[in-house]
Amino acid sequence: MVATVQPVATQAGLDALKAGGNAVDAAIACALTLGVVDGHNSGIGGGCFMTLRLADGRLLALDGRETAPAAATRDMFLREGKADPALSVDGALAVGVPGEPALLAYASTNFGKLPLSRLLEAAARVASSGFALDRHYASRLDATRPELARFPASRTIFLRADGTPWRAGERLVQTDLGASYRAMAEAGVDWFYRGPFAAATASWMQSHGGILTAADFAGYRIRVREPVRGTYRGWEIISFPPPSSGGVHVLEILNILENFDMKALGDRSPEFVHMVTEAMKLAFADRARWLGDPDFTPVPRGLIDKGYATELARGIQRDRTTPVSGAGTPPRAATDTFPREVGRHTTHFSTADAEGNWVACTASLNTSFGSKVVIPGTGILLNNHMDDFSVQAGVPNSFGLVGAEANAVEAGKRPLSSMSPTILLRDGRPVLSVGAAGGPTIITQTVLAILRTIDFGQDPRTALAGPRFHHQWRPDELHVEAAWGDAVVAELRKRGHVVVVDRSLGAAQAVGVGPAGSGFRGSADPRGEGSAAGW
Ligand code: GLY
Repeated sequence: MVATVQPVATQAGLDALKAGGNAVDAAIACALTLGVVDGHNSGIGGGCFMTLRLADGRLLALDGRETAPAAATRDMFLREGKADPALSVDGALAVGVPGEPALLAYASTNFGKLPLSRLLEAAARVASSGFALDRHYASRLDATRPELARFPASRTIFLRADGTPWRAGERLVQTDLGASYRAMAEAGVDWFYRGPFAAATASWMQSHGGILTAADFAGYRIRVREPVRGTYRGWEIISFPPPSSGGVHVLEILNILENFDMKALGDRSPEFVHMVTEAMKLAFADRARWLGDPDFTPVPRGLIDKGYATELARGIQRDRTTPVSGAGTPPRAATDTFPREVGRHTTHFSTADAEGNWVACTASLNTSFGSKVVIPGTGILLNNHMDDFSVQAGVPNSFGLVGAEANAVEAGKRPLSSMSPTILLRDGRPVLSVGAAGGPTIITQTVLAILRTIDFGQDPRTALAGPRFHHQWRPDELHVEAAWGDAVVAELRKRGHVVVVDRSLGAAQAVGVGPAGSGFRGSADPRGEGSAAGW
């Protein structure tokens, strides 16, 4: 079973399964094809996290997050002492060393059955022959047009000769990207990290004010980490550890909510929104203080301690919102920390196979079209994940997130993420693979999908369809989907929440076990144009 945001990518995953591949091959096929048909969200110029539950029971977290270049410095985005947000969003300085190709190659070599070259070739065919743009892609293209137009190679691919963007239904052909995939199929990922692509990028960076070098590419390594693990009402939650904040805060929020009878509230009530929101605020205040790359900064394990969550839960009032002034102090904060080692943007996809391999993978260029930079002749869009660092204490990034020392820019460091590829186990058996796209809303969408699965017994489609809401502590705003309706919004305002109504929030995908505990059920987010398919 495969679930992605784009039917052509779902089909690529399914084709890999039909060709004798396993869920890991299917996930690699999805990632490579999404880089073509959903390239504004993710691609080989970006990074990804993959949570794996292998058929032999092993649990792994593969970290293909970008790293800051060796010449990166803490104040690199300041001009005259003040953060210049444009610098970390568009252009040369916004780019971190991409990690997705290295992660896909590692996953393929160690856990896949099909050669990576075959999956690259299949995705290359889609790039060279073109595909029809969906509405979402076309709308992102329209919104990002002025920034893309600044970079000639990007302009040539993504805009028509008269500078207007391609429209929904029109075919986007990416000849250079197809050729790059084929070059990598032939020469391996060294083509990317130690060969022509690294050289071309270094040379472009040098002439456009960037700091990325060929040595940065050659030095890139994925990290194989232990997933972060916890429980919610007896179900086991396996998610992504730092440098993602995702797994830690999915668990922290669930731990807080375990102190209340959520089922009794019903998942469509203002009480439900209120209680979950209060837990979200507490977790995001901790995120801003404590979270960063564990290879550079100690991240306390106590953030997912059940006793700590109970203490936080005691401060929640049922009838009104409680201001959260700052982070809490988790137990053993200085001594018990996550081990150092063992990017609506972004995209999540889930796969599972009959052998018992389950994959949850979230991939990203960060914001739409990443840095907007395509290295000429390669078709490869580069990420802007440097913006996920805290460019200056207290200065919000593109998602309005604030951070501190733990997430300051440092050479070789990974920027903090919210990506939360998560697998649920029940009685030791995998039952759900889920995750989402959309910056910090990734965490809250994932929490809601888990609550609806566990507390309300919903199948993946129903769990993803339920109306969403999001609070990230700062700014002090509760975002709710319009589907909640005026009555619920009025009730929330009565409790003191500053409510902002959005048309829709995020994009999550999930694969779960079938109703009788066998077979699979999958769902792309009903808000989008994706699909799930099984075989
Ligand atoms: N770029 C989105 C994230 O990693 O959180």
